[in-house]
Amino acid sequence: MSARVCVFILTLSTLHGPRAVSGVLSGPTNVSLTSFNMNLVLRWDPPEGAAGGLVYTSEYKSRFTPYKKICTNSSQLQCDFSSQPDSSISVYGKFTGRVRAQLGAESSDWVESKEIFLDRDTVIGPPNVSLISTEDTIEVIITDPVFARSTLKEAYGASNVIYNITHWKEGHEKEAVSRTNLLQSRFVLDKLERWTSYCVQVHINALMNPKPGEPSTPVCERTTSKPGVPWVAAVVTFLVIAVAAAALVLAVVYRKRISNFLCPKDLLPQRFKEAPKSSMYMAMRDSHPPEEHYDPVSIVADDGTVEEGSPLQDTGTSCSLIVGES
Ligand SMILES: *[C@@H]1O[C@H](CO)[C@@H](O)[C@H](O)[C@H]1NC(C)=O
Ligand SMILES: *[C@@H]1O[C@H](CO)[C@@H](O)[C@H](O)[C@H]1NC(C)=O
Ligand SMILES: *[C@@H]1O[C@H](CO)[C@@H](O)[C@H](O)[C@H]1NC(C)=O
Ligand SMILES: *[C@@H]1O[C@H](CO)[C@@H](O)[C@H](O)[C@H]1NC(C)=O
Repeated sequence: MSARVCVFILTLSTLHGPRAVSGVLSGPTNVSLTSFNMNLVLRWDPPEGAAGGLVYTSEYKSRFTPYKKICTNSSQLQCDFSSQPDSSISVYGKFTGRVRAQLGAESSDWVESKEIFLDRDTVIGPPNVSLISTEDTIEVIITDPVFARSTLKEAYGASNVIYNITHWKEGHEKEAVSRTNLLQSRFVLDKLERWTSYCVQVHINALMNPKPGEPSTPVCERTTSKPGVPWVAAVVTFLVIAVAAAALVLAVVYRKRISNFLCPKDLLPQRFKEAPKSSMYMAMRDSHPPEEHYDPVSIVADDGTVEEGSPLQDTGTSCSLIVGES
């Protein structure tokens, strides 16, 4: 019962403007401590029916440190505690803020916020997303939001930060496809239709933070080539390689003709080609057994001696191949 009466009186005093019962200035309302990307900001509304000229003083404390004044006699309705370079705000801390209104020499009571855990309660802002397209892929490059304290991956641990990438064909948002649990800040959407515009939206989830991060504004990109983009260089490189490969194949296939051209067989005296028993000829024949068709021929001179000789040595090694094969 007495508790209810108490609440009633408190409500009355709040509703009665700044100079309520017993001349005490009433305090700010809707006092809340918020965090976005690991900052720490206290926000409030003026007291009900507040007169002009009010100023506010606000403070914060962590579980282990006493209240520390940050904004003094400010007319603004918020105070960014994390903007202080020397503030002892740790991303793993638990914080409370409070504010009071002042009018001249008069001060309201302090109004305290609820306590928040910075890492658990902060709102993870949208990442920055850029896209690089090829004919049928789009690479999504994600830049983490900038934190007031630490970095996203330092605060939560790199393996606890996951990206949720949603993409859809422009104008077909209802057919959006999401890929979740992605740890890499670069991701390739593949097997896309060519000459088609796709839109991408990314948000971040951190395991320690129950709230999903804010989604990035959708960015769209067309799968195709723009003038002077890297695939032109890729095509040129491909053509050069293809031409070189073709030249190599032709050189292998027509090596006989090429060497004939470079080393014409007519330079060789006719009789040397008909010396089948020469050791060089035998070696050549044995190295290409399936291609060889020949009839052993012996040239017998008028005086009955068989002409053997080894004149091939005179013809030079690069041309001896032709001798054997022709
Ligand atoms: C407190 O916030 C609520 C909702 O945001 C709003 O309706 C109300 O008017 C606010 N109170 C004051 C005193 O501004
Ligand atoms: C804030 O205002 C009060 C009352 O006007 C004054 O006494 C005090 O010196 C002021 N503090 C600062 C830091 O300006
Ligand atoms: C996001 O990326 C664009 C383009 O790279 C850049 O201009 C912009 O400054 C970035 N914004 C943030 C918040 O990093
Ligand atoms: C990923 O994002 C999409 C679109 O915002 C949402 O519908 C889906 O629930 C998200 N998935 C996870 C696991 O967060």
